[in-house]
Amino acid sequence: MTSLSRRLFVTGLSAVGAVPLLPINSHANGTQSVLRATTSTAQLTPEGYPRTDVWAYAQQGAGSVPGPAIRVKAGERVSRTLLNELPQPTAVHWHGIRIDNAMDGTAPLTQAPVPTGGEFDYDFVCPDPGTYWYHSHNRSREQVARGLAGPLIVEDTEPWLGLSGAATRELILVLDDWLLNEDGSIVEDRWDDLHAAAHAGRMGNTGTVNGQSYPEFALRPGERVRLRMINFATDRIMPIRLPDLSPTLIALDGHPVAPRSLEVLELAPAQRADIVVDAPATSPETTSLLVDIGRGNQVEFASFRMEGKPVQPSEENVRPLPPWKTLPKVDLASAQNQPLLMNGGAMRGIDEAIYQGETMDFRELTSRGMAWAFNGVTHGMEEPLFVARLGRTVRMELVNRSAFPHGIHIHGHHFTVLSRNGVSAPYKDVRDTVLILADETVELAFVADNPGKWMIHCHMLSHQATGMMGWFEVA
Ligand code: C2O
Ligand code: CU
Repeated sequence: MTSLSRRLFVTGLSAVGAVPLLPINSHANGTQSVLRATTSTAQLTPEGYPRTDVWAYAQQGAGSVPGPAIRVKAGERVSRTLLNELPQPTAVHWHGIRIDNAMDGTAPLTQAPVPTGGEFDYDFVCPDPGTYWYHSHNRSREQVARGLAGPLIVEDTEPWLGLSGAATRELILVLDDWLLNEDGSIVEDRWDDLHAAAHAGRMGNTGTVNGQSYPEFALRPGERVRLRMINFATDRIMPIRLPDLSPTLIALDGHPVAPRSLEVLELAPAQRADIVVDAPATSPETTSLLVDIGRGNQVEFASFRMEGKPVQPSEENVRPLPPWKTLPKVDLASAQNQPLLMNGGAMRGIDEAIYQGETMDFRELTSRGMAWAFNGVTHGMEEPLFVARLGRTVRMELVNRSAFPHGIHIHGHHFTVLSRNGVSAPYKDVRDTVLILADETVELAFVADNPGKWMIHCHMLSHQATGMMGWFEVA
């Protein structure tokens, strides 16, 4: 059933023992704690293979991949002093949190990068419950690929787990891919690989879930479990299948959706999905988490083993998560319209674009290491793409004229996906990162209710680094 592509994916050699939940850092210890960005090692390949040198976040002890899960309740603060023990400047972005602009961690737009040996106090409120993550936002193409990312879970203030139709427990599943040499080390000489960046990006050859190769998770037969799934990959879109587990989607990018069953969950880089699964009551005894790595190749990233005392399966429909109640309603009638044209990349290129104030053709752009543009501007950090008045609805038409898909992320806000290719979106999902296929047009809207300078960029971090980034201002 699974065609394990050994050449590309060095994982899947042997199943390892059942993996416990990610270590959960209690928020009970209150006062300002520390988040170190440091060098560490991780067992990304199966036991018996060499460990990998990584860059990682740590709270106590050594840095781990993924970084320690930070948990707070909606409305509570996250307070962490970042200590930079890396050989490069860094900054931490709290992806998807509708955050105070000064805490957004986007170097150099909202803060200076924190130098080696330096520190920075992050202290902010998490207004909305859901599944989020934090990651480096300086040289992120390299720093995220080296391991600088961790889950950030914002719990609802109302109970959900344990109620009728809800799950009885939850698991965080961080999916990632790594580009490793045969000795297990991260491929170092290709951080500026323009060929990859002008195509779909830097693709890994080793898949991990929670930083482990091919882990096995134990489920009790009949049990209903919430999976908080996060795609940490820098560039890989992950179409995920959970055969035999009857997955039901309950949230996207932290925001609840009316429960709907799923055949394939497509997670672009940085996207999250909360899924409810029902473990089979009798058979099969094991099942897989499969990721489509292209050309129909399904690779097993993890497996689930049904073991322990069976649970009476829930007969009830999956219970929706409580609504956010924190997002202002978009007002399309008085919206400010902002087109966003994405072009560049291999196959199509760009006729011309402005880079650092100079108009260039595609060859000149690539000779400067750039390959992509928003609205004819490459790596447009000098000027905002647009300015929105505080409280105004912004309606954006995102037009992908390139030959590749892009996962566009807007900082500081969540938006409603209104339509695709002119067809009204059936679910009107509220997200912070949206996947736009080649030649697709996506229309979205949000209320610009968060003052400051906010980045908008492709979350295929190779695309971002080579030009597909800009910012807007809410004032
Ligand atoms: Cu996940 Cu600009 O970030
Ligand atoms: Cu892109």
